[in-house]
Amino acid sequence: MKEEHMGKPGKRKIALIGSGNIGGMLAFFAAQRELGDVVLFDIVDGMPQGKALDIGESAAIDDFDIKLTGTSNYADLIDAKIVVITAGVPRKPGMSRDDLIEINSKIMTEVAINVRTYCPDAIVIVVSNPLDAMVTLCQRITGFPANRVMGMAGVLDSSRFETFLAWELGVSVRDINAMVLGGHGDTMVPIVGTANVNGVPVMDMLEKKYGTAEKAKEVMDAIVNRVAKAGGEIVGLLKNGSAFSSPASSIIEMVEAVLHDQRRLLPVCALCRGEFNVDGYYMGVPAVIGRNGVERIVEFTLNDEEWDGLKRSYEAVKELVNSLPNDQ
Ligand code: APR
Repeated sequence: MKEEHMGKPGKRKIALIGSGNIGGMLAFFAAQRELGDVVLFDIVDGMPQGKALDIGESAAIDDFDIKLTGTSNYADLIDAKIVVITAGVPRKPGMSRDDLIEINSKIMTEVAINVRTYCPDAIVIVVSNPLDAMVTLCQRITGFPANRVMGMAGVLDSSRFETFLAWELGVSVRDINAMVLGGHGDTMVPIVGTANVNGVPVMDMLEKKYGTAEKAKEVMDAIVNRVAKAGGEIVGLLKNGSAFSSPASSIIEMVEAVLHDQRRLLPVCALCRGEFNVDGYYMGVPAVIGRNGVERIVEFTLNDEEWDGLKRSYEAVKELVNSLPNDQ
């Protein structure tokens, strides 16, 4: 069953594979911004159709003029310009993202085969967890050039970092610039050295606030620790499902960067070929994002602590990726 709703046909197509919490929110954001015609795909019969209808019925209020389609037929994704994959199972309280590898590998395999068939020219953004492994699997199965397959994690982790810093420093989050690199797990690396408030180093502000460098470091360590566990904090509160609003906002930022060829410098999960001493693995690194997906990875100088953190994270990513089931 396919349901189509509203709008002038013929706009560029955005395919959302997985129409659960994140997928539904994404469809809503994409519609409100008129980013293109949106196709919601899910295996649950009726659900993507229902979400497409529901969102479509807000068009008269929100004044958007795009077509929304809900489907369980991959053929409806044909020739999508961009594909976002959130298909999979989210965490339950007490689970790590890595605990999802077996079940989500099966789902990703099926999804990637269909993306290869129906969306051969698409830019693909993978969101399903464990992220670093799922994006690797997706690239391997589609066989797409690595610039066209990336993962979303760093934008979200960085947004969490910036938010906590803004709260701590009592300044607008708009003026905070901070990045989180590495794998999307407990070993992720919030980069403290370059974190700043409109150019003012965050550590300087913390030191002014607390009087000593030791105390400032203690406060920063607590923030860094909270960032690494922020996804789990939400899972623990929701009890049934994981974060979806902030992930959807983060994905939209990447989708817009591609569709509008913005050349944003964003932390994304990209295939490294020697950058940051990571070779042949996907990991969170800063990259310029434009119409070709990952236009280039941008290296910069890290301090010793950050290098150590990144090395540890790389080891964890390698272990995770090397544990991908062989039959996938
Ligand atoms: N093909 C397509 N969709 C599938 C498949 C499949 N083989 N298997 C499951 N799905 C769908 C589910 O039916 C569900 O609607 O994927 C959707 C996932 O949605 P939610 O369970 O609401 O999860 P969500 O919060 O959106 O997170 C999705 O992103 O952040 C990660 O860890 C998270 O892996 C999870 C993914």
